[in-house]
Amino acid sequence: MSTSAESAAAPLRVAVLLSGRGSNLGALIAAAREDRSYRLVGAFADKPEAPGLALARAAGIPTQVCVPKDYVDKAAFEAALFAAVAASGADLVVLAGFMRVLGAESVEAWRGRMINIHPSLLPKHQGLHTHARALAAGDAEHGASVHFVTPVLDDGPVLMQVRIPVLPDDTAESLAARLLPQEHRLLVAAVRLIAQGRVRLQGEQILVDGEALRAPM
Ligand code: GAR
Repeated sequence: MSTSAESAAAPLRVAVLLSGRGSNLGALIAAAREDRSYRLVGAFADKPEAPGLALARAAGIPTQVCVPKDYVDKAAFEAALFAAVAASGADLVVLAGFMRVLGAESVEAWRGRMINIHPSLLPKHQGLHTHARALAAGDAEHGASVHFVTPVLDDGPVLMQVRIPVLPDDTAESLAARLLPQEHRLLVAAVRLIAQGRVRLQGEQILVDGEALRAPM
């Protein structure tokens, strides 16, 4: 009996960090039911009340909460958080609505192995309130980006983007609602591509299938 290289490969172990709703985690959970290329090994939150934790528990994914106020400083909080992440055996960390700026030490330790999903067409609209800012800027298009995490907030090489048109009647809420399902597809596609071993970060350059990526996929 022959087995394909892909099915024979061990699944990529993925840890998800979140602060709230967890709908991106939900998309990764749903896709993992049919896709054996990755496995969710832990969900980590900085808030005990984050609804995303319940999604993880319902799917049998181990959860852990690290609350910053329980630690002497930000460095101690991040050390504890990433010690737990490392203990999960994660190969890849996905920031999916994790609303904290990570320190350079944590980011450097996971360089090339940590991605973030951000609801804008980076480098446009880093930070918060991206939907309202896209409208205020008069953007004709809005979207989301998956990028490798570097020490600068919502910066770092962009692997993939999804674009949606801004409609004349759009509000920040309607834009967010139309973008969210696209975000889910984007994040699943990015994790799958990485799980297939097709993506590598070399310095600031993303390589896909060994070729330099000149623009986000
Ligand atoms: C998502 O829209 C994600 O792109 C955004 O938070 C939301 C989390 O939703 N992330 C950022 O703004 C990061 N700068 P979710 O908890 O339902 O996945």
